[in-house]
Amino acid sequence: MCGIVGYIGHREAYPIVLKGLQRLEYRGYDSAGIALYDDKNLKVSKTKGKVADLKAKMESELDSTSGTLGIGHTRWATHGVPNDVNSHPHLSNSGDLVIIHNGIIENYESLKKELTKRGYKFESDTDTEVLVNLIEDVIAKEGVKLGKAVQIALNQTVGAYAIAVFDKKKPNEIVVARLGSPLAIGVGKDEYFIASDASPFIEFTNNAIYLEDGEMAVVRRDKGVKVRKIHDDSLVDPYIQELQLNLEQIEKNNFDHFMLKEIYEQPNAIKDTYRGRLHAEEGIIRMAGIDDNLERFLNARRIIIVACGTSWHAGLVAEYIFEDLARIPVEVEYASEFRYRNPIINSDDVVIAISQSGETADTMAAIKLAKEKGAFVFGVCNVVGSSISRETNAGAYTHAGPEIGVASTKAFTTQITVLTLIALKLAKAKGSMSNTDFHMHLQELETIPQKIEIALQGNDHIKEVAFKYKDARNCLYLGRGFNFPVALEGALKLKEISYIHAEGYPAAEMKHGPIALIDEEMPVVVIATRKGHYEKVVSNIQEIKSRQGKIIGIVTEGDTSVRDLADYVIEVPDTIESLTPLITTIPLQLLSYHIAVMLGKNVDQPRNLAKSVTVE
Ligand code: AGP
Ligand code: GLU
Repeated sequence: MCGIVGYIGHREAYPIVLKGLQRLEYRGYDSAGIALYDDKNLKVSKTKGKVADLKAKMESELDSTSGTLGIGHTRWATHGVPNDVNSHPHLSNSGDLVIIHNGIIENYESLKKELTKRGYKFESDTDTEVLVNLIEDVIAKEGVKLGKAVQIALNQTVGAYAIAVFDKKKPNEIVVARLGSPLAIGVGKDEYFIASDASPFIEFTNNAIYLEDGEMAVVRRDKGVKVRKIHDDSLVDPYIQELQLNLEQIEKNNFDHFMLKEIYEQPNAIKDTYRGRLHAEEGIIRMAGIDDNLERFLNARRIIIVACGTSWHAGLVAEYIFEDLARIPVEVEYASEFRYRNPIINSDDVVIAISQSGETADTMAAIKLAKEKGAFVFGVCNVVGSSISRETNAGAYTHAGPEIGVASTKAFTTQITVLTLIALKLAKAKGSMSNTDFHMHLQELETIPQKIEIALQGNDHIKEVAFKYKDARNCLYLGRGFNFPVALEGALKLKEISYIHAEGYPAAEMKHGPIALIDEEMPVVVIATRKGHYEKVVSNIQEIKSRQGKIIGIVTEGDTSVRDLADYVIEVPDTIESLTPLITTIPLQLLSYHIAVMLGKNVDQPRNLAKSVTVE
């Protein structure tokens, strides 16, 4: 998710903040903005587009860019499409408070209703503008200083944030806070830097305070940094780290590649995706795009899913989940085939288009065809305001944050998360699953991020397996049921970053041809978790073993049967059958990543591939 930068000290803020935003561009964003204060005038400039566009706009529209206090923001929109008005910084109604925010305020609608009743006006559609006016309202009601007001206001919010806010009437301080989104304070000599990571200030100081979740700080140019706990205002003794990182290490959060960083971001990405939607305690799933079109889904003759690549694999997982839980017929189509085969589409069809980038040409064409023929089209995209998200009749965003690595990882698991929420919501509305079963699924879905963390702990063992099979010329991936699409996805990951030929197959299908390929040169990755035709998969493994195939088993922790048969097993935590794809995909992502690195491939930008295929 986007980036925040701030400076308070004795130097001109503008060049430091602008360069800081440039340093954060790698994180991906859709808009940018800066606010500067020179003790007399507050200057704010913001725009949809790139930091370069912001620079040009600032230097054309502002008579000066002076001031020793400044904050800047690169936005990754979650509430309100990318445009100038929704860009940050946002001002309070008085024009005194200026805020930048990274994250999501889940309960912004109820807060906005309350503030509107109290006469506050809003220019933008963002949750952030609500927060800055909530802070202003607390100051007006309680007569407290900015720091205390931020603490009180944040205790009324639900969500994730890294914020920086200042009051132009008190330009000697910036107040910052974090919950769920990173925030670092660079400690210089009578000057302080605020940023999402250390890259904007590492050239000025390598002394940094990383706020912990639930902490806030008042940063004063004359008195330094005071850190407090948001929930009870208690003081925290800040730990000033001396950073030994270079720029590149910081951008990748100390991972060697963006792909690995994004594999490890999946627990948080899934939490961000179900945040505000999954209420397991109350047994509720809130999704406006579905709620507003529920009858369409419930009366649909069928659901047609159109997508490409990894998104198509997510659609295939959804087919199993929708049909199993919601008992709605689902067909999954390659968008590139669907658009040209003169498909039969009716007005009682619902089409779901899945696309991380929201710009894939084939998927866009399939959507247009479906709409021409009268179908209702629902989008699942990761980029707010992308072409596909604007073309569809309704939709739900994954909140995976920017996915920089060309090989899709966190997009896949967050797409499955959104699709699972939709399937569960429809199943509940149709009464096709019992309340007990529904609640159990919601509670289990909430445990998935933690279970992915456990699966990630297998990384070192997976690296050993990768070393063993990195020189294979071909590889077979087998899975059954919900894990058949995961076998396809695992094969695609290996192909696209290591250039080793790999194929995914339904495990039972092996007998109808692929078994001819099995010999001691052929590694076979078999997804053999305890749920879902386990005994059948074990017999498939025996067939492979009897032909000297090399077996890598993805098994439920504690498994012994497969362990006795396979050359290697990789354990993953147990979960309910329909959620296993969210877990079993993790070792396959890591396996392909390590093999590609060992082969010296360009993991983040594999040859011949683009992150978004915007041409046919
Ligand atoms: C998957 O790792 C590839 N990046 C590719 O198959 C991708 O999933 C496909 O091009 C679809 O992209 P989209 O989700 O942005 O539409
Ligand atoms: N939720 C805020 C918005 O949509 C911040 C998004 C971000 O992290 O950039 O503007």
